[in-house]
Amino acid sequence: MKRLSVSEVVARRRSTRAFLNTPVDDALIADVLTRATRSPSGGNLQPWRFYVVNGTSMARFAALMQTRMADNPGGEATEYDVYPANLKEPYRSRRFGVGEAMYEKLGIPREDKFARLAWLQNNDRFFGAPAAAFCFVDRVMGKPQWSDLGMILQTAILLFEEQGIATCAQEAWSRWPQTVSQFTGAAPEMMLFCGLAIGHADPQAAVNTLVSARAPVEEVISFV
Ligand SMILES: Cc1cc2nc3c(=O)[nH]c(=O)nc-3n(C[C@H](O)[C@H](O)[C@H](O)COP(=O)(O)O)c2cc1C
Repeated sequence: MKRLSVSEVVARRRSTRAFLNTPVDDALIADVLTRATRSPSGGNLQPWRFYVVNGTSMARFAALMQTRMADNPGGEATEYDVYPANLKEPYRSRRFGVGEAMYEKLGIPREDKFARLAWLQNNDRFFGAPAAAFCFVDRVMGKPQWSDLGMILQTAILLFEEQGIATCAQEAWSRWPQTVSQFTGAAPEMMLFCGLAIGHADPQAAVNTLVSARAPVEEVISFV
């Protein structure tokens, strides 16, 4: 099989929000995450820590989440703000835009708040992915080290894509910090940043046809 170029992998990648239950081998996940540790980090701190759930541990976690979601549909107290309060323009419109584009693919109108909320809860099931990784960072770390998490996450995401494995980074897991920390056994000094759903994309799912928009290049890149 011909290897995809980095450019091809970058162009193909998108956030997948419906997965088949086809298993993904632990060995493949271990290999990708190991290679992703070649990602750069300021001062080579490598401030990341990953916990993988797959196979039997995913089955146990899914069962635990079912009871947690039933007991506490709103989730737990979050430990960081996913977005700034009163998100200003143009960010607000970009966020709104991708949400509306997604619900259009799903055929869920704005008035149907119940269906939209129910759909969002798919986050708590990794959109059906059979495997996932949770990404933690030491609580003492600041903004530069949090940006290092993005380095390794994107490297891993692209390496998965190269293997034909789809992913979705999920800050939605910030709503379940206690549950995830207890389940993974992460040390108290570690804070959960996000989850990464890992699996085979469902080719029949309309939501997976979403290609999110990007701001005009002139708005984000200037040559001075
Ligand atoms: C750190 C991070 C967290 C994200 N969290 C979520 C999430 O909780 N749920 C979700 O459906 N998408 C999540 N996304 C996916 C974004 O919505 C997506 O990257 C963006 O809309 C651009 O679309 P694309 O990834 O398909 O290019 C997240 C992406 C990143 C990078």
